Amino acid sequence: MAINGKVAFVTGAAQGIGQAIASRLASDGADVALFDLKEDGLQETKSLVEAAGRRAIVIGGDVTDKASLEAAVNRTVEELGGLDIMINNAGIAGVGAVENITEADFDRTFSINVKGVLFGIQVAAAKLKELDHGGKIIAATSIAAHDSFPMTGLYSSTKFAVRGLIQAAAKELGAFGITVNGYSPGIVGTGMWEQLDRDFAALTGAEEGATFKKYVEGITLGRASTPEDVAGFVSYLAGPDSDYMTGQTPLIDGGIVFR
Ligand SMILES: NC(=O)c1ccc[n+]([C@@H]2O[C@H](COP(=O)([O-])OP(=O)(O)OC[C@H]3O[C@@H](n4cnc5c(N)ncnc54)[C@H](O)[C@@H]3O)[C@@H](O)[C@H]2O)c1
Repeated sequence: MAINGKVAFVTGAAQGIGQAIASRLASDGADVALFDLKEDGLQETKSLVEAAGRRAIVIGGDVTDKASLEAAVNRTVEELGGLDIMINNAGIAGVGAVENITEADFDRTFSINVKGVLFGIQVAAAKLKELDHGGKIIAATSIAAHDSFPMTGLYSSTKFAVRGLIQAAAKELGAFGITVNGYSPGIVGTGMWEQLDRDFAALTGAEEGATFKKYVEGITLGRASTPEDVAGFVSYLAGPDSDYMTGQTPLIDGGIVFR
């Protein structure tokens, strides 16, 4: 158990990739603080963590509210006894041509995907410095952080921005024994893609399911990603085998974008 006894904090932990990460880190030996807007959904994740024999605490909150993240991290240290790994996973996607991006969509998407990650990095960095034992800060990016695709330009621009934050934070925090990395999934079968597929259908007239199928057909390994595929890579980023990596956002996409 690579991270036995460590404490992890996962945002967007109520479903999808965040839930799989929380469950995987618990199997790796970590206690996990679960943070999400959807407090009800967190109960299922808590059961998964406990089934792996670890402790979980459930905290409802919004990543765009720095005070709520700060309070959640303080509660984690009080109730789980520390903080070692921060996973800034919460994010939203959307569909629309660059020409049609509204100011409201821009503000909402940047607020959750970029400001939310910035606050997560800030809050974790302050706490890890205070605890003075180093740690791992990790954030969700995407294939869309390495390449842009038609109709997802707004989402893509938020994920490119997160890569910028990761690189700068890694350079600033390395001296404190804190590494900062990201994970870049491809097409993962979660609630996010169910919504994206419906949005594409509404906008382009494609049949429901057709857009997801089309994207999956282009994957080298011939199938969509599961949340567990991503969680396995995050387990590596959270564990000691990645101690000599920082500022990176590797692709874990089954072969869609090649860099
Ligand atoms: N699904 C994919 O194909 C895919 C691909 C690449 C990257 N990603 C990224 O991975 C991350 C997780 O994606 P997912 O597919 O599991 O998404 P999802 O929509 O299934 O789950 C996201 C979770 O984040 C929570 N959340 C949203 N806004 C929040 C906020 N302001 N504060 C707190 N919690 C909030 C939601 O309630 C939800 O539980 C996202 O950052 C996403 O951009 C997903």
